[in-house]
Amino acid sequence: MKKDVELIGIVGCGKMGRIYRKVFDPLCDRFVIVDPRTADDLEPRPYATLGDLPGDLFHRVQVWCICTPTEKHFESLETILSGNPRARVIVEKPACLSFEVDPFHALLKNYCEARVLINRQYADSRAVMEMVNALKRYDVAHVDLIRIEFSKDRRPDIDAGRFVDSHFGVLGYEWSHILTIIQQLLGPDDWATYCDLSSELQATFDGLQFVSELEERSVLPAGTKIRLRSSMLGKYEFASFVPYDQLICHRYIEVRAGTLRFRLQLEPHDETRFTGHPFENHFRIEDGDDVVHDSTILDPFLPRFLHLTMNQLFQPDCPPIDWTTLERIISTRNSLRRQADRNNLVAPTRTGPD
Ligand SMILES: NC(=O)c1ccc[n+]([C@@H]2O[C@H](COP(=O)([O-])OP(=O)(O)OC[C@H]3O[C@@H](n4cnc5c(N)ncnc54)[C@H](O)[C@@H]3O)[C@@H](O)[C@H]2O)c1
Repeated sequence: MKKDVELIGIVGCGKMGRIYRKVFDPLCDRFVIVDPRTADDLEPRPYATLGDLPGDLFHRVQVWCICTPTEKHFESLETILSGNPRARVIVEKPACLSFEVDPFHALLKNYCEARVLINRQYADSRAVMEMVNALKRYDVAHVDLIRIEFSKDRRPDIDAGRFVDSHFGVLGYEWSHILTIIQQLLGPDDWATYCDLSSELQATFDGLQFVSELEERSVLPAGTKIRLRSSMLGKYEFASFVPYDQLICHRYIEVRAGTLRFRLQLEPHDETRFTGHPFENHFRIEDGDDVVHDSTILDPFLPRFLHLTMNQLFQPDCPPIDWTTLERIISTRNSLRRQADRNNLVAPTRTGPD
C-alpha cells in the first residue's frame, strides 16, 4: 500500500528519535537514520553523520526530524538546509542553546523557503484543553494559584547513556512542556505579563547538569500565584491524587480558584505509552471537600501532535515558530547562571561556539 510520505530522515535515534520512527512508521515507506552510535536494533543502518549522506538524499528526504542532544540541533539544521534549502524539518524542543537563537533566526531568514517547526506536543493535549475549558465553564474570574510539576528520576537514563543537558540543566527537559501548559492556562495577555516577571528561583545546582531541580515562584499583578517545579532526582513535591504504584514520571497540574480545585495528573505510564495503551490522564474537580468531577482522558497526544506537525510542513501556510517559551527558559537560565557564578556553585559552561 502506498504510504503518505516516501522518505523521512531521523537525525539522532535515541529515545525520542525512536519514538518518531514508531509514530511515523505507518505513514512512511522508508527512513534514513543518522546517528554516530551503532545500535544493532536500528533499521535501516544509520549513517554516522549528516556529512556521510550522498548529496541527493538531502533532496529526496521529504521530512527531517532532529532528535539529537539539544546542543547538536542547530548544527544539524544548518547542514540539512545547506543540503536542501527547501527542506521540511521538525526540531525537538528546546530548539537550540541560548547563544544559538540569533543564528537560528538568521538561518531561517537565509533559507526562507525552508519549513521548520519545533515540537510543542502539550499545545495539543486534550487533557490540558479540558482543564482550560473547565475554567471557562465554571466562569473562573480570578485564579488564586497555579501549580505545575514535571518530575522524574533521570539518573538511571543518564547512567544508561542518555544525553545530559549541561547548558540548560533541568530547564532543558520538561520545562518547555511546563511553559507550554501555563501559556494555555494563562491566555495570551497574562502569558505575556508572566514572561516579563522576574521570579523567585530555588535551585539545586549540580556539577554535571548545571541545575538538577528547580522551583520557580511568581505572582501576577492580579495576585495569581504561580509555582512551577521540576526535579531530575525524582523528588515529587506537589502531591497527586492518582495512587499509581509504579509512578515513573510525575506530571501534575493544579489550579485553585476560591473553593474550587482543578487537578490534572498527566499520562503517568510513561514507559508503556507506545505499547498499545492509550495515554491516560486523570482530571478531577473538587469544591471544598467534595469531588464534583472525576474523569480519565485517554489521549495519545504526542503521536497526534507529530502527525499534525508533519501535515503543517506540507501546507502553504505553515505556522511560524513560537519562540516565547524558549525566551522565557533563557531568561530563567541567565538568572540561574548569575546565581551560580556569584556563589561559585558550578563550573562555567559553553556560552558560545567553541
Ligand atoms: N518532546 C519530548 O517529550 C522529548 C522527550 C525526550 C527528549 N526530547 C528531546 O529530544 C532530544 C533528544 O533527546 P533523547 O532523550 O532522545 O536523547 P538520547 O540520548 O536518548 O538520544 C540522542 C541520540 O542522538 C545521537 N546523536 C548525538 N549526536 C548526534 C549527531 N551529531 N548527529 C546525529 N545523532 C547524534 C546519540 O547517539 C543518541 O542516539 C533532546 O533535544 C530532548 O530535549 C524531547
